[in-house]
Amino acid sequence: MKPGSQATSPHRPVLYQEIIDFIAPSSPNFYLDCTAGAGGHSRGILEASCPNGELLSLDLDPTAVELTKVNLVEFGNRAHVCHGSYLDARKFLADLGRDQVAGIVMDLGLSSMQLDQAERGFSFRFDAPLDMRFDPTSGQTAADLVNKLDEQELADIIWRFGEEHFSKRIARQIVTNRPFATTLELANVVRSAVGRTRERQDQATRTFQALRIAVNQELQTVERAIPELIDLLQPKSRLAIISFHSLEDRLIKQAFRLASRDCICPPEQMVCTCDHQASVKVLTPHPVLPTEGEVNQNPRARSAKLRVVEKISFGMKAAGS
Ligand SMILES: C[S@@+](CC[C@H](N)C(=O)[O-])C[C@H]1O[C@@H](n2cnc3c(N)ncnc32)[C@H](O)[C@@H]1O
Repeated sequence: MKPGSQATSPHRPVLYQEIIDFIAPSSPNFYLDCTAGAGGHSRGILEASCPNGELLSLDLDPTAVELTKVNLVEFGNRAHVCHGSYLDARKFLADLGRDQVAGIVMDLGLSSMQLDQAERGFSFRFDAPLDMRFDPTSGQTAADLVNKLDEQELADIIWRFGEEHFSKRIARQIVTNRPFATTLELANVVRSAVGRTRERQDQATRTFQALRIAVNQELQTVERAIPELIDLLQPKSRLAIISFHSLEDRLIKQAFRLASRDCICPPEQMVCTCDHQASVKVLTPHPVLPTEGEVNQNPRARSAKLRVVEKISFGMKAAGS
């Protein structure tokens, strides 16, 4: 079956073939998909690791978990789909009697389903409750943040996670006009704070991105998870991460670089005291980007960047480190 062609999935997996090529799934190995979504990448891994490959697929969003279960039903007990964060991957794997895996995929950001479900509050295309949580069963909503944080905290979030030049002006208008209950109420105040610009994108885009990242603590979560996930890899197996904005990509690049170095002492220090050992080699010095053909077929892929590392055996030196 072609990527994204599942009858029940409007989400097309991005960089699908590249992921399968890097992970090179085979039978009877065990794999981890950190971000199930609609199960597109999970399906590819299960198909390629036929007949006995297995996979644990996790998602914070209970709707994504249900959809993935339906989309992977034909793989029977080779597919394990669970509701939870990839930060807890070790615990989920232990429940299945595993402590290592033969490859890991992480496809960050939002799924098409999440963007298109008005009630999730991710998009200002619809008027809906200002929620934005990947897991609508726990944590603070975007409405909680915009209605409670002080002006400086809001400006910081909008600047850091949205890279929005008008962050201070927007934060001031938010504080003046709150409380907010819906996406459109907020989008309209942000638009009037920014005013007319030459940019093609909506004036509220960066602020919405910033709030979503803050609500889900996306950057901190990825940063914490990378060393944990590397630890779960068997030697010679790979961790592949797709990101959709420069903040995430930068963080992944730095985390991979750090994990691939034998010494992480400050450059001015003459004698190494860190005892750090490289655990991976970087397979993608530059990120892999989708082809023009993929972007034409799936415009959502246009900002995707793929970075991959391979676990090295203890004591083996990473090339170029
Ligand atoms: C771009 S989608 C994944 C699409 C998937 N690769 C596919 O082929 O259908 C990203 C998914 O990651 C999930 N997600 C975000 N943060 C997560 C976390 N900390 N743990 C588990 N899932 C997470 C989101 O709920 C969303 O469903």
